[in-house]
Amino acid sequence: MKNALITGITGQDGSYLAELLLEKGYKVYGLMRRKSVVDYGNVDHIKDKIHFIYADMQDIVSLITAMKISQADEVYNLAAQSFVATSWDTPCTTADIDAIGVTNMLEAIRIVKPEARFYQASTSEMFGKVQAIPQDETTPFYPRSPYGVAKLYGHWITKNYRESYDMYACSGILFNHESERRGLEFVTRKITHAVARIKLGVQDYVELGNLDAKRDWGHSKDYVRAMWLLLQQDHAEDYVIATNETRTVREFAEAAFKAAGIEVEFEGEGVNEIAKDKATGKVVLKVNPDFFRPAEVELLIGNPAKAEKELGWEREISFNELVERMVKNDLAIVEKEIKSAN
Ligand code: NAP
Ligand code: GDD
Repeated sequence: MKNALITGITGQDGSYLAELLLEKGYKVYGLMRRKSVVDYGNVDHIKDKIHFIYADMQDIVSLITAMKISQADEVYNLAAQSFVATSWDTPCTTADIDAIGVTNMLEAIRIVKPEARFYQASTSEMFGKVQAIPQDETTPFYPRSPYGVAKLYGHWITKNYRESYDMYACSGILFNHESERRGLEFVTRKITHAVARIKLGVQDYVELGNLDAKRDWGHSKDYVRAMWLLLQQDHAEDYVIATNETRTVREFAEAAFKAAGIEVEFEGEGVNEIAKDKATGKVVLKVNPDFFRPAEVELLIGNPAKAEKELGWEREISFNELVERMVKNDLAIVEKEIKSAN
């Protein structure tokens, strides 16, 4: 039996990865942050199978202790302040967690168990103002947010520990991946949750920012499989994980309304753009400039050819299935809320 340590286990990816590793027979340890009200987040349903350790990415002592307790063979570093928009509000905390936190974890491994294998959750946000289309492992980086800049440090320090200490340390450069467990503030889940509320009559419209931004969206369940594969190779290397398809936020919204049986049409431009329900003529989407970012990543589309060829990775959940699963899940959640309120 192998031991795995997952930082960020309560988040979206942490929960799917924990399920995958438990299925594979790993003993799974997960880092928890202390909160005033105990909250297991997305792993509440499997909490009895996980060995929780209270720790924080900003506290290297707690990470050293976590390594001593877990004696992890594989460490998956998924913990992060992961919401790009908030990184302009808390740039220093974002850097402490997403940049220095990676060094803290790498040092804890180096001190306690240097032979442990390390996965770093790198991101397509590092490509930012993209220098090539599509983006792959050779594309130069140009981050456009404090989050992207911090993650770029995490990416390079991982590579540096690999080269300096011959550690098995690697990064998955993952493009956007979503799921039924996505945080409510990310655009996909914000849309599917609002669509469910609009469909069930408890909300009139959703307000969004830049509808022209393009993202390469996959499902988290497919992407955590890639994380595991990255740690099972003969030697450590970095890989891009993506679908090689890109769509605008507008297209995601259109697909989500369609999945709920609402056909929409868009009219107007820029901040005056709206979408109406074709059947009723009601406005169901408005643009609100408050959701625009100080600097935007306009276009992401990844080329996962290296991962497909060398890792045998491929995504199984299509864009349409992703949207349908998220809308169906939110319809069930909102329906339940309505019933319990009555
Ligand atoms: P998420 O749902 O926001 O989860 C983030 C996790 O990090 C949570 O468990 C959170 O714990 C934990 N965390 C935050 N600050 C911490 C700290 N100081 N110490 C310890 N734990 C801390 O994120 P996700 O979507 O699963 O993403 C997982 C990782 O992949 C992140 O590093 C993200 O930046 C990266 N990534 C994500 C995507 C994507 O599209 N989802 C793409 C590329 C890379 P609490 O529950 O206590 O808040
Ligand atoms: N959140 C949000 N809310 N985004 C909006 C909105 C809105 O109301 N309206 C438009 N957008 C646009 C954003 O400007 C951005 O261009 C795009 O939708 C996606 O935003 P998010 O869903 O917040 O994700 P992200 O792409 O910024 O970051 C996610 O993906 C990265 C990988 O590329 C996060 O999961 C990061 O942690 C991850 O690294």
